[in-house]
Amino acid sequence: MVKLGVNIDHIASVRQLRRGTAPDPVDAARICEKAGADSIVVHLREDRRHINDADVAALRESVRTRLNLEMSIDPGIVDAACRIKPDQATLVPEKRQELTTEGGLDVIGNFKAVRDTVARLQKDGIRVSLFIDPSKKQIRAAKETGASCVEIHTGEFAAADSYKEQTYCIGLIREAALCARSFGMKVFAGHGLDYENILVIRKIKEIEEYNIGYSIICRALIIGLDRAVREMKNRIREGRTHG
Ligand code: PXP
Repeated sequence: MVKLGVNIDHIASVRQLRRGTAPDPVDAARICEKAGADSIVVHLREDRRHINDADVAALRESVRTRLNLEMSIDPGIVDAACRIKPDQATLVPEKRQELTTEGGLDVIGNFKAVRDTVARLQKDGIRVSLFIDPSKKQIRAAKETGASCVEIHTGEFAAADSYKEQTYCIGLIREAALCARSFGMKVFAGHGLDYENILVIRKIKEIEEYNIGYSIICRALIIGLDRAVREMKNRIREGRTHG
């Protein structure tokens, strides 16, 4: 059965707007799991702009499916991951200034550092996935690091603004997925996926899991707003009717 990992970083982004305690990523993870999420994904960024160390520790205690920690290969973050022991680590490139992860990890260009990080995490029993562009060369290098999984970066596919470009991108993703499967790797995909483009990419049978964040959180805000307003309006009215 194809799986869905839900990235809840932006629950913490909303919390950080007021630097308070709500909304709590642990509550959000519980709701996602109850709704059928197969894993909970969070990115512990070097600048801790949304998810922080305490969130990851609390999620480690509460997540019942699989905790997938997105992380850079920065030694400080790798130390944190080895302490927290998520079920899975997804290695991503990270730049301070970026709004979100831009592009896949250059496994070829950083081969030794990636290979050493993979080995260190695996020694602690953590499954490792590498987030890479749909390139066969990168997939081959990913295999050589010893990682058992790849997550194919779907950002370019998601940003395609013509049918022709989308078809080209989907071709690359399909080829990359087939290549990774031929090496015996598990294949995941994510970044920029939404309720429309999932209809196209879901046809690639080699992809076992989609990791999706932003579009789900946006949809939750829109479809949840009606109930949130009604609840508040009822509270205000109740106060008036009871004195
Ligand atoms: N997969 C990876 C490796 C990511 O870095 C992200 C963004 O944090 C996602 C999936 C989810 O992307 P989006 O929020 O655009 O759905």
